[in-house]
Formats: sequence, structure tokens, C-alpha cells
Amino acid sequence: MGGYKSQFQHGLDSPLTSMHIQRMTKTPPDITLIANWKMYGNSANTVEFSDYLLKNSHHWPQGTKVIFCPPACYLPVATQVLGKEKRGAVSVGAQSAHAQQNGAHTGDISAVMLKDVGCAYALVGHSENRQSRHLSDADVAAEAQAVQQAGLVPVICIGESLEDYTNGQAFAVLTRQIQAFLPHMQGAYLLAYEPVWAIGSGKTPTLAEIEKAHQHIKAQLQSVSHNVKQVRDSTPPVLYGGSVKHDNIKNILDLPSVDGALIGSASLSVAGFEAVLQAAFNSDK
Ligand code: PGA
Repeated sequence: MGGYKSQFQHGLDSPLTSMHIQRMTKTPPDITLIANWKMYGNSANTVEFSDYLLKNSHHWPQGTKVIFCPPACYLPVATQVLGKEKRGAVSVGAQSAHAQQNGAHTGDISAVMLKDVGCAYALVGHSENRQSRHLSDADVAAEAQAVQQAGLVPVICIGESLEDYTNGQAFAVLTRQIQAFLPHMQGAYLLAYEPVWAIGSGKTPTLAEIEKAHQHIKAQLQSVSHNVKQVRDSTPPVLYGGSVKHDNIKNILDLPSVDGALIGSASLSVAGFEAVLQAAFNSDK
């Protein structure tokens, strides 16, 4: 255990050759972990999980940030325990947000409403959501924009399908997805790189593939966005997601270009998430 190393430079002028200098100017939060419960859980274990995070966060290394994303109906349960907005190391996030503030959208929830119940973050463009709601890249960009306008921080999920991966199109897909939202960003956001084929499958890319994808993403953020001030000033954290477990998180977090992880099934219980956290804290970061 111990504090994360932060002596490496974060800038990426030459992404494929700067692995060893990336973290020199890295500033907290160094590691962000997201617990995405998807459509699992109930009020009792939402309280239990929130309570666990609340009572244990002071043991975590400095710079650790956890965002808890329970199903929408349990968000007020979580914020009641954890407090509203960003407070300390633990925040509450939604799993999706509609692009409109209000309107005739049965079953949907707007970012303004999420803000009202105390969320600080919202996932946007999770592949399960892109698929079930037939979201285009432009729809995801509109949702990310709405989340920022409501005063929350979007966590924008991108990633290639198995077909794209197999056809060698992964980087082209990532570039396309980034170019769709980047011009609309007006403030802070996070990115989650989630290869669709790795989500819930128990499969992950190799460590080298994850590192290369993150370097590609960061290089894109810098090259595509050189006129967007807040992006030029600091590259947003890029998290990896897709079958992250206690037995692979350390190696993933140790990759120079990985700034955290989005965790689904391994976050569904206190015991499971505690195992993930323990492994994460043994990371060199
Ligand atoms: P998983 O889910 O960890 O169960 O693969 C990741 C995600 O939420 O996208």
C-alpha cells in the first residue's frame, strides 16, 4: 500500500515514446474507480455499500476517488448516506442521462434531475446504453453536453465492438467516437475506454493493447482538441473498463496511460469491491 507515484510527467507530445515521462505532472485524483451496478441491487445493499465507502475512504491512498453508480431509483438512497455533490473521495454517479432537460420522454431521467438528487457524475454512452437505446455518436455527444450544462461531470464511454477489433478498426472507431463529442466539451469530463467485447465477458485485451489504446485516445484528445482550451490545458483521466477484477486490476492500473477503472460485476458486493480496492492499492501508482 502507500501513496501513488506521481513523479512522472502527464503530457503526451509523442504518445508512443513517452511512457516513462507521462506522470511527472500528474495531479490528484490519480486513480478513479467507478462501481457501475447496472440493473442490480436494492435499497438495503445500496445503503450497505454507501456506508462501507463512507466509513473506509479515509484508509485509501491519497488521490483515490470512487464514484458509485447504482440504478437510478437508488441514487437518492446513496446520496442520503454519502451526501450530495462531490464530497471527499466518494461521489455518486448516474448510469445515464437524457440529452433534454425535461419533456415527453417516458422512463428517462435528465441531467438536471440527477443534479437535483445529488449526483456529481453521470456515465454517458455506455455501450449497453448505446445499444439498447440506439444512440448515435451525436446522441452521446448531446448527452455529455447536457450533463456538463447541468453542472455534473460526464464519464464518456467509448470502445470498439468485437467486429471492429477483429478487423483492425479499433483505433478508427475510437477516433470517430472522440471526434463526435470533443468539440462540444465545455468543462471537466472523464473518459472510459471499454472494448465492447470485454464488458461482462471475462475477456480483456492484453496489457499492451490497453496501453496502446489509451495512448491513442490521449493523443487524439490532444491533436483533435488543440483549440479547446480546457482540454489543451489538461488531458482528462482515461479509465479502462471491461472485466476488471481483483486479479487483474493491479496490472491494468500500473499501465502508464491508465488513470483508473470502471468496474461492473466485481463491484456488486462490499466484499467483492473491497477485494478490488485492496488489489488496486497495491498498484505502483
Ligand atoms: P464488467 O462491466 O466489469 O462487468 O465487465 C464493465 C462495465 O460496466 O462496463
